[in-house]
Amino acid sequence: MRAMTQADVDAVLAIEQAVQRFPWTRGNFIDVLNSGYVCRVDEADSGEIRGYAILMPAADEAELLNIGVAAAKQRKGLGRAMLGEMLEAACGMNMKRVFLEVRPSNAAAIALYRSAGFSEIGTRRDYYRNADGCEDALVMAYGLKDEGNG
Ligand SMILES: CC(C)(COP(=O)(O)OP(=O)(O)OC[C@H]1O[C@@H](n2cnc3c(N)ncnc32)[C@H](O)[C@@H]1OP(=O)(O)O)[C@@H](O)C(=O)NCCC(=O)NCCS
Repeated sequence: MRAMTQADVDAVLAIEQAVQRFPWTRGNFIDVLNSGYVCRVDEADSGEIRGYAILMPAADEAELLNIGVAAAKQRKGLGRAMLGEMLEAACGMNMKRVFLEVRPSNAAAIALYRSAGFSEIGTRRDYYRNADGCEDALVMAYGLKDEGNG
């Protein structure tokens, strides 16, 4: 993986729009780049962008804001590898914990997070508000440093 730049946004947005039910906008990606969050892309030797992940560090915990893998490249271990790199980045910034919110309907993402060692720590009611209604968020966390995992 390497750092995402403004020049990657078209390719990242194309994946996002293809794989997410409620995709981020171009402006969302520009904002996270400008905010200095950890924004990375997975690039094949051919130069093709295959996936991306975004981590927001706060005081001593980080939130995984987004992760996506191009549909044709899914189920080949890329998501797990990118998630592992984001956990390493958080560890390198002395974060104690990485947490994330996920739709309870997103079975693939939940399976990825569980297999990487994340635990479910709660629910945020009506966290997602869309044209088709509200959906709770499942909150999951991964302990780093003295927190231990789980
Ligand atoms: C979630 C996502 C990033 C996983 O990426 P991926 O590269 O396909 O995942 P991996 O190949 O690394 O899979 C790792 C593990 O996650 C689980 N998993 C991944 N996709 C799965 C699926 N469709 N169904 C069930 N389990 C799945 C499995 O446990 C898998 O291990 P295995 O292949 O050894 O069984 C990908 O499905 C995606 O981009 N989804 C759309 C975007 C999204 O929902 N992002 C998360 C919310 S922001």
